[in-house]
Amino acid sequence: MLKPSDFIPKNYSQTIEKGSFQWSAPSNIALVKYWGKMENQIPANPSISFTLKNCKTITKLTFSKIERSPNFSFDLLFEGKPKESFRPKIQNFLERVEVYLPFLKDYHFTIDTQNTFPHSSGIASSASGMAALAVNFMSLEKQLNPQMTAEYFNRKASFLARLGSGSACRSVKGKVVIWGNHEETENSSDLFGFEFAELHSNFENYQDTILLVDKGEKQVSSTVGHDLMNNHPFAENRFEQAHQNLSKIKNILKIGDVNEFVKLVESEALTLHAMMMTSMPYFILMKPNTLEIINKIWKFRELTSISVCFTLDAGANVHVLYPENVCEEVLQFIKNELVVHCQNEQYICDEIGSGTQLIIDN
Ligand code: DP6
Repeated sequence: MLKPSDFIPKNYSQTIEKGSFQWSAPSNIALVKYWGKMENQIPANPSISFTLKNCKTITKLTFSKIERSPNFSFDLLFEGKPKESFRPKIQNFLERVEVYLPFLKDYHFTIDTQNTFPHSSGIASSASGMAALAVNFMSLEKQLNPQMTAEYFNRKASFLARLGSGSACRSVKGKVVIWGNHEETENSSDLFGFEFAELHSNFENYQDTILLVDKGEKQVSSTVGHDLMNNHPFAENRFEQAHQNLSKIKNILKIGDVNEFVKLVESEALTLHAMMMTSMPYFILMKPNTLEIINKIWKFRELTSISVCFTLDAGANVHVLYPENVCEEVLQFIKNELVVHCQNEQYICDEIGSGTQLIIDN
């Protein structure tokens, strides 16, 4: 089993003066949720997610060699303009990954980042943002160490992304990604995500329409939320259930059982929110419109027998999941009945994608 120290490079065979890369990294939506963590971004339970395609962060990393500096040297741009409010997050990330990327203080970096989804849409950009940053740094490390394998590149990128934001480790590579030790999953690790490669064709191009119910700032940061699972009265049962649900969903995804998928995914979403409602302090992130949408999805499913379901992340927005072959009917239903519950009638059409992509390499 790999240990964190396996990601500390011994030496580099090349020197590089300057250059730049640009990568895109997608967001992801968990099916079995990560909620609760230990020290060093180790998850309290394993999770699995669909990688998205259209909701992405695009990050350009420009670097030039400097005399080794005592501090990290970087400029930060968001959509081309300086963004000081992002600095502490990046500074914190660099501190956490420095031991694994010992070249960081030998360069000045410009990090220029943008999202394809509207900001303050309530869509977390930390997963896509941290994954995009991690692959950029791995591109530089690959130039310093050209014999690096693609497998090591992806694993370490996921490992680094996790140190920025846990769920980010599921955004690096693969359509469906598992993260966290799980007895029944060979090669599973708390340290990085890896692709679940047995996806049945029923889930090919699975759709995710994200209904923007509340675009406001998060009421509760995920760090605070995860912390509330410490000493939570139901924590142990919940963590055990996540292990069992991961076993179940792996089989569901493999045999293509869309009906069982619906039940498990909705139950996971409601369990996540139930954990929030039963922690101390307790909180509710769903809004009245979240519940309106859930009820309408249930009614529509009963009437039509179309296997459409919902999932939620740590907020009020609703992810509507459905197979590609019912796209037309479901989109019509969304437009007719659900968009009235969205803020400014906004929603984003997305689907399963495959992970980070290199855009510029020079
Ligand atoms: C509810 O990955 O945002 O979306 O590790 O503190 O950055 P940090 O948390 P984060 O938590 C995501 C929680 C979730 C469920 C999930 O994505 O599995």
